[in-house]
Amino acid sequence: MVLPTAAESDNPANSCMFASRYMQSPLPRFRMPEKSIPKDAAYQIINDELMLDGNPRLNLASFVTTWMEPECDKLMMSAVNKNYVDMDEYPVTTDLQNRCVNMIARLFHAEVEDGDQAVGCATVGSSEAIMLAGLAFKRKWQNKRKAQGKPYDKPNIVTGSNVQVCWEKFARYFEVELKEVKLREGYYVMDPKKAAEMVDENTICVCAILGSTYNGEFEDVKMLNDLLVQKNKETGWNTPIHVDAASGGFIAPFLYPDLEWDFRLPLVRSINVSGHKYGLVYAGVGWVVWRSKQDLPEELIFHINYLGADQPTFTLNFSKGASQIIGQYYQLIRLGFEGYKLIMENCRTNARYLTEILEKTGRFTILSKDVGVPVVAFSLKDKSLGHDEYEISDHLRKFGWVVPAYTMAPDAQHVLLLRVVVREDFSRTLAERLAHNIEEVLHEFEALHPKITKVVKEILVTEDEKNDQVEAKENSKKTHENRRRGRQARHPDSVDKTKGIC
Ligand SMILES: Cc1ncc(COP(=O)(O)O)c(C=O)c1O
Repeated sequence: MVLPTAAESDNPANSCMFASRYMQSPLPRFRMPEKSIPKDAAYQIINDELMLDGNPRLNLASFVTTWMEPECDKLMMSAVNKNYVDMDEYPVTTDLQNRCVNMIARLFHAEVEDGDQAVGCATVGSSEAIMLAGLAFKRKWQNKRKAQGKPYDKPNIVTGSNVQVCWEKFARYFEVELKEVKLREGYYVMDPKKAAEMVDENTICVCAILGSTYNGEFEDVKMLNDLLVQKNKETGWNTPIHVDAASGGFIAPFLYPDLEWDFRLPLVRSINVSGHKYGLVYAGVGWVVWRSKQDLPEELIFHINYLGADQPTFTLNFSKGASQIIGQYYQLIRLGFEGYKLIMENCRTNARYLTEILEKTGRFTILSKDVGVPVVAFSLKDKSLGHDEYEISDHLRKFGWVVPAYTMAPDAQHVLLLRVVVREDFSRTLAERLAHNIEEVLHEFEALHPKITKVVKEILVTEDEKNDQVEAKENSKKTHENRRRGRQARHPDSVDKTKGIC
């Protein structure tokens, strides 16, 4: 209820929020206002504006968790005022972090003796985890080069060009050259052979992705490991592997337990995973684990004691909320291996269902793989109606769905695709509705171009219509090119690759 000002308090209408003056004054946008406003007015105004943000559950663009059990919501809300970094004050929370690290490292087959603490830590997400892992590789490589009396000023990392933008950030922020293996049409992950060829004496690690952001496909870490073992033998370099398992780290152990991608492979020295993706926790938690203590240089760990006790920290940020770590521990013990497996199986089943329906329309090429992260990535086979994937994405918004359209990474940028991330809370019913809405959009397109529907095209295509089709194709190309140029003009410095997808 609004607290009216003294002048207003006589008027009973002012006790109604929507009769108050706060509902008709514009909100400050650039300067902090001079005067306070009542708390319920502030709540109402902000809450109402946020209604326009859309429904996170229908946001199929994101891997990030949008639903948790109410019991866990309760636990997380009750810890919302805890700063994780105050380990001395919150020793139980610190212990929960360590338990999570232990469980995740063992899930990834780290060689840790029973009862021993695994090496790793919680982060804000995979991006921070990757910065830390990258720094550890850089420092280890530099130390080795210094000891050998060799130059150590030109470190590089070998990745596929399909890496998420956080790898480019790491490279730029920490001055490491990113050597990218380019994609090609029909092959949308890093080719391990080319990666191994690109490795040189300055390579601090090769990054393999378990679950490409673009189409969910797993990279062949085993083949990369075997090729590098051979190359290391020949050169004496000992180039290690980091696995970016941001989304696949909580998929592969449950759905593909025999797939060797983790610490079972000798050159895999560190792995990151997003707790807030298939780890099933709301946004704000990631994990990085190292194979052993020797893989994390001691000089990168800070020991802070001004809060009352010795606190080892290896993070980029100091303060952060404790809720997400508590949420992760809840999920690990509440679901156990059995629960995660059942959830991931459901995700895969629903992804398969959607894939089948899209294939049946005959209009799409499926770019995701059956073995991989449960995403459905697809592109239009035929753009001769003059419509493209961006338009499908736009039209789906009318139904409330957020399905991003984007271009594939270099050198396959000419491939446009749409991606649906199948999360835990995307049930069969929602999958059916989405499939139906996609079909409706296709029908809408066809209704706009009745002359060139599939059947007619096959039976009677006149010269004029052929010309129309050529023109439509040209127009579609132009529209796409104009859109690309528009994006480039708006973001001149952007590397036109991972915009809008995470
Ligand atoms: C393969 C990959 N690595 C890293 C990231 C960054 O993860 P986060 O959002 O947890 O920082 C993503 C995000 O989607 C990703 O797909």
